[in-house]
Amino acid sequence: MRALILAAGLGSRFKSQKAKVLHTILGKPMLWYVLRTLRELNIREIGVVVSHQAEEVKKVFEGEDGIFFFHQENPKGGTADAVISALDFWRDYQDYLLVINGDSPLVKSQTIKNMQRYIQLVEEYENIKLSALLLSGFLPDPTGYGRVVKDQSGNVIKIVEEKDATIEEKQIREINGGVYFFYCPHLLDVIFSIQPSPKSGELYLTEAIALMHKKGYVVRSFMAEDQAEVMGVNNRWELAIAENVIRLRILEGLAKEGNTIHQPETVWIEPSVVLEGEVEIEPGVALRGNTKIGKGVRIGRGSVIENSVVEEGAIIEPYSIVRDSHIKSGAIVGPFAHIRNHSVIGEGSHIGNFVEVKASEIGSHVNAKHLAYIGDAQIGDRTNIGAGVVFANYDGKQKHRSKVGQNAFIGSNSLIIAPITLGDYSYIAGGSVINKNIEEGDLAIARAELRILKGKGKEKLL
Ligand code: UD1
Ligand code: MG
Repeated sequence: MRALILAAGLGSRFKSQKAKVLHTILGKPMLWYVLRTLRELNIREIGVVVSHQAEEVKKVFEGEDGIFFFHQENPKGGTADAVISALDFWRDYQDYLLVINGDSPLVKSQTIKNMQRYIQLVEEYENIKLSALLLSGFLPDPTGYGRVVKDQSGNVIKIVEEKDATIEEKQIREINGGVYFFYCPHLLDVIFSIQPSPKSGELYLTEAIALMHKKGYVVRSFMAEDQAEVMGVNNRWELAIAENVIRLRILEGLAKEGNTIHQPETVWIEPSVVLEGEVEIEPGVALRGNTKIGKGVRIGRGSVIENSVVEEGAIIEPYSIVRDSHIKSGAIVGPFAHIRNHSVIGEGSHIGNFVEVKASEIGSHVNAKHLAYIGDAQIGDRTNIGAGVVFANYDGKQKHRSKVGQNAFIGSNSLIIAPITLGDYSYIAGGSVINKNIEEGDLAIARAELRILKGKGKEKLL
């Protein structure tokens, strides 16, 4: 089967510099969802009509095989003009071409499969070769969509666009979902007879239906099971609604696979995220990009995890941010922790309240439980980092790295000035400023000596 995606339109209702089909739903361009649907159907030859921001649109398909781009000279030419622009793709094709609007991201592959099956059944049992089958649905408010006009036997006579519809036609609630199967020889028969709309000057693909009917060809509509599938995305509010639909579909899928999602209306999980089961997601969590969450992980309220791996049994306490990092099994992160820039948190380590870890490798069973900054550092197993410890990694010009051995102890409020190495079992007394390497087993203390002046305090206060 071949499919043609119409993605050349300007999307003026978005009031955007960016092409409509590039606006994102859960972090992926709207068009990505259309492509995914076609891939689920194993369609190997996909034509894409581009025009406005063609280069950016093409990037969505980077690395994909069997994609053929066609340029529509005039992105305001209309949907039929778009199909004509790709004439080379289907002119000699003696089969059904699936045409799909680039702004129809909600249609499911199963529905398209069912449409295909319907065409076969009609052929088999009614002995009728359908010239077109279009996806339709009943929307509570059909305003803005093409209405499907049928005769008494249920065949489609025409699709009338909102702008051209009479008051009676506007009452029709069956709308065109922008997904069609066209039998190519019959499409070729009519497409050049389409006249520009007197209202907009565009060539409407939907006009092909009326022309087919006039020739005696049979056109039917196929009702979507889930009415949301027929929704087109023409402005940013519809984008928000479509995003909600896809978001809930993802969450439903993950819940049914055995993950607990509390208050799904507040949870954001992007399509490329993997949950390995028994994961518990609290309200307000966002999981983005290529993120993988291991079995039994709990992710606390309000946390954001992006392009990261969290291994089995780890806990992310509330309001923590993890980006481009790896949290190993059994580690505890947060609450209010920030892990970023390719950091690794070792097994069973605890990175606690208000601790920031940047580009650092933390060994296993390390504790840094409160208020620390660990930047560009390597920390050995079982080392303890006290409250308020700061790794000064930047001298105003360059970043430097620190290395701390195993079983070391860095007392609270110490400043570790990189580049520096602190050996295994080294002990830094609290409040020290350390700017020299400390060898294995040594104790370093760098602070002004304590003086006690008897009775002087009260004297000052009275
Ligand atoms: C279209 C249908 C309407 C249907 C609705 C479903 C037509 C004339 N109308 O209306 O019956 O109910 O979709 O969502 O087809 N495009 C091009 N080149 C163009 C114009 C559009 O490639 O010259 C692309 C757009 O990028 C878009 C798709 O075709 O992805 C549909 O165009 P759009 O302008 O959104 O059509 P609608 O008004 O939504
Ligand atoms: Mg549209």
